[in-house]
Order: sequence, then C-alpha cells, then structure tokens
Amino acid sequence: MSDTAETSSPAAVGSSPAAPRALLVGAGGMGKTWGKNVKGHPELAMLAGWVDLRDGAAAAAADELELTGVVTGTDFAKLLADVRPDFVIDVTIPEAHHDVTVAALAAGVPVLGEKPMAHTMEAAREMIAASERSGKLYMVSQSRRYDGRLRAFREQIAANLGAVGILNADFYIGAHFGGFRDEMDSVLLLDMAIHSFDQARYLLGDADPVSVYCEEFNPSWSWYKGDASATALFEMANGVRFTYRGSWCAEGLSSSWECDWRAVGSNGTAKWDGNGAPVVQTVLGPNGFMSKMNDVATAELPQNVPGGIAGSLLDFVNALKTGATPMGECHDNIKSLAMVFAAIESAKTGQRVPIVI
Ligand SMILES: NC(=O)c1ccc[n+]([C@@H]2O[C@H](COP(=O)([O-])OP(=O)(O)OC[C@H]3O[C@@H](n4cnc5c(N)ncnc54)[C@H](O)[C@@H]3O)[C@@H](O)[C@H]2O)c1
Repeated sequence: MSDTAETSSPAAVGSSPAAPRALLVGAGGMGKTWGKNVKGHPELAMLAGWVDLRDGAAAAAADELELTGVVTGTDFAKLLADVRPDFVIDVTIPEAHHDVTVAALAAGVPVLGEKPMAHTMEAAREMIAASERSGKLYMVSQSRRYDGRLRAFREQIAANLGAVGILNADFYIGAHFGGFRDEMDSVLLLDMAIHSFDQARYLLGDADPVSVYCEEFNPSWSWYKGDASATALFEMANGVRFTYRGSWCAEGLSSSWECDWRAVGSNGTAKWDGNGAPVVQTVLGPNGFMSKMNDVATAELPQNVPGGIAGSLLDFVNALKTGATPMGECHDNIKSLAMVFAAIESAKTGQRVPIVI
C-alpha cells in the first residue's frame, strides 16, 4: 500500500453495509490500537481512510494490520475531501487535536477524539463552538470510563454510602514511555490524571468540580522533563472533597492504572483497588466506640460490557445512530479538562483556584 491518497473500494474493511465509514488520524502507538479496534468491530464501523503527518506511517500501519482498500496519506484535508467519511477518529498528539477536530466539524463530519480534549482550555472552548456551529457530535474517548468494575463501584457508592463526603485516588506507576511524554510539561496531570479526574466525576454522579489546590513536582530521580508527580485536593459539588495523589515515576509496588480508590459517605465506605471487585462496609448500628459494620455482598460484575476504546466506539456509533448524548460529549468532557488546567494553575500560583468551564 502506498502512502498517497488512492481511491478506496467502498466496502473494503468491515462487513456491515450499514456501518459508518471512519477516517483515522494518527498512526502512532494509540492510532494502531484504534485501527485494531475498528477492524475488530465491523458491526460498528469500517476503516475507510488513515492519515498521519509522517510519510508512509499510515500505509505501514494499515499493512501491519492487514487492512486492504484503506485510503492512506499525509494530508488530512485532502483525505477528508477524498474519503468523505461518516466520522473522524482523532488519535494525534494533544497539540493537534484542536486543528483536526475543528477542520472535520467545519466539513460537517462528527469527531471521536482521543483524550485529552485539547492542550489549552481556549482550544477546547473553540472545539465546542465548532461542534455547536456545525451541529455535529464531538465526543472525547475517555476510555477508562468504560469499565464494568468502575461502573459497579459507582453503583455501590450510590446504593450504599448515603451522602458522599470524601473520595480519594492513588496512582503510582513507573512508566518508561519514551516519545512525546518524556518532553511534555505537566505530563502526569495532562496525559494521565485526566482519566482519574474524569473517573472521579463519574463516580460522584457526574458532579461538577468547584475548586482545586494542587502541587505538581518532579522527584530528583524522575526521567521526565515535566512534572511527573502531583498531589491535588478538589472541592466538588455539595462540598465533597476529592484527593488525588499520583506519580508516573514511582518504581515498584505499582497501583493499578485505574487508581486505588476510597469513597466515604454518611452510611459507610467503599473501596476499589482498580483490579478486582469493589468492597463495601455500611453501618449496621451503634456499638460503643466504633459502629457495628456490615460487609455488603459483592455485586455481580457486569459481563460482556465492551471496555476501553471498544466501549467508546460503541457509545459514539450508537449516538450517531440514535442522537443520544454519549459519555465524553465535549460539553461534559471539558469539565474534566478544566480540573486538569485548574490544578496546573494552582501548582504554578500556589493558590486554591476556582474551576471555570
Ligand atoms: N485512552 C488511552 O488510554 C490512551 C493511551 C495512549 C494514548 N492516548 C492518547 O492518544 C493520542 C495519541 O497518543 P500516541 O501514544 O499514539 O502518540 P504517538 O506520538 O505515538 O502518535 C501520534 C501520531 O499522530 C501523528 N500526528 C501528529 N499530528 C498530526 C496531524 N496534525 N495530522 C496527522 N497526524 C498527526 C504523529 O505523526 C504520530 O504518528 C494522545 O492524545 C494520547 O493522550 C490515549
């Protein structure tokens, strides 16, 4: 396959005639994961085109995945016009998300984009405006929301804890990526904590963030240029406090990628280590110094729920078909991004910062 825009056979990849045709932008590590995701779900979408700025990268990725009939190239505007996709999947680096998304929406094409939504709040607001102008869906794939265990934890919190007042998340992983992350400012907050902040909103019933005090820092041994560690204290709606402690240069005894969580409410506590099922204890009644507690039976974890980016793809395609509002729709997802940028500002100024959408 060459890396120039060639005419594609319309029914090339994917077997469902009704499946919408996607133009994938970005053929890096995550772009290839998206290529596999689309290939693996022909009932949801078919890959019609693939573009990457690097000469030959999209064609090489399509060959690697044994995709045939996919138009590849380096010029996004040209492929958008040539392929005329039903939607764009944007898996470029964060700094490119704005331009790719705005161009696609201006051409009347809905966008499913990778997190983080944008590299600045101003860019994110412009992307929302572009979605409103075009009347087309822009959804951010906040893939860690699509997890049956996280959903079970959310349900346990809502069903058992009463009024929630405290939510904690710990994230400790020593990740040696190489590539753009090694050079990026605020790498933990912008590239990873966005997931955890978004999960916190989800766990609290999509509660709005109010303010944050944060310190970000780079331990002496860090192999990252930007700050790879942070501690943040958020005030959320209804006075709930959400505390995040994280590091991407923490070697040994790793937490899970989902964080290690604790939620405390008026009626008890729920914990989830991000691996197995959540555990819950609720108050049975007074018992002197400490209340008598009850171990709540572990709920059945939901089975056959498409997880990660397969969940995002399903949610997005379903929204295209039905007009439903998916998780990660830009007007909602910007609230998670705002938590990140307010945390970064707090770390810079040393002040508690209000979170403005
Ligand atoms: N959801 C997750 O769990 C998860 C995991 C990894 C990465 N990501 C996200 O996916 C995105 C990509 O990450 P990655 O690890 O694949 O990065 P990467 O650097 O490996 O790949 C990015 C690719 O985009 C291409 N590119 C950049 N600007 C472009 C443009 N304007 N037009 C076309 N191509 C362009 C680059 O040439 C590169 O090949 C990031 O936003 C990242 O945060 C999400």
